[in-house]
Amino acid sequence: MLSVYNINVWYGAIHAIKNISFDVNDGEIVALIGANGAGKSTTLKTLSGLLRSRSGSIKFMDQDIMHMPAERIVANGLVHVPEGRRVFAQMTVEENLDMGAYTQPKETIADNLERVYAHFPRLKERRRQVAGTLSGGEQQMLAMGRGLMANPKLLMLDEPSMGLAPIMVEQIFEIIELLHKAGTTILLVEQNAQAALSIATRGYVMETGTITLTGTGQELLHNDDVRKAYLGG
Ligand SMILES: Nc1ncnc2c1ncn2[C@@H]1O[C@H](COP(=O)(O)OP(=O)(O)OP(=O)(O)O)[C@@H](O)[C@H]1O
Ligand SMILES: [Mg+2]
Repeated sequence: MLSVYNINVWYGAIHAIKNISFDVNDGEIVALIGANGAGKSTTLKTLSGLLRSRSGSIKFMDQDIMHMPAERIVANGLVHVPEGRRVFAQMTVEENLDMGAYTQPKETIADNLERVYAHFPRLKERRRQVAGTLSGGEQQMLAMGRGLMANPKLLMLDEPSMGLAPIMVEQIFEIIELLHKAGTTILLVEQNAQAALSIATRGYVMETGTITLTGTGQELLHNDDVRKAYLGG
């Protein structure tokens, strides 16, 4: 479904992504784990067209998307829920969700909204509430719901559990599994390696701009190096 080959990304003189390659197959949950500054968010931003690679190729659903404008990438079904939620604080929950549907035909929006509310009943209860007053967990649900409004084939989630209480982390991971069961392929960036690898089909470990290790979720969960570095021994 997604095939990334030898991409390189710079911020000015900083070489943030060094020749990385990886794949996501239809129906998988693929986890991308790594420490602060490893290049996980930079990778997602490059896939969604917000940053550009200087080499290699990025193919999504058999199309070369490396030079495609970001809004066309979204319209093709590669949808990015960024780190830190980024909801529109002054707008209501429902207005935020409508913003997520900007690439979609108008006649499909009402159905999509009902689908999102089915996954997130909490958002339906709070549809008229201003997003800035939602709790952190609710804002994460809203950010994910906004992504779903774009009808993703592949949903990229950047640290959805960041800063949330354990009970909310559990809920967010349950929702990710439900979305996956409903047919959405997932690329999941997480610092919570334990939770991410537990639900992942496969995973990749990133260190300072390179991929150092790959395997199934279970293999990585039981790998000694991964345990020492990311799972507290
Ligand atoms: N706008 C920017 N300008 C310059 N350097 C940047 C910029 N954004 C990120 N970097 C650098 O690129 C590297 C990768 O950053 P990135 O945000 O992709 O890491 P990350 O793996 O997502 O980390 P975290 O887990 O903390 O979110 C870091 O060294 C970071 O300092
Ligand atoms: Mg990041």
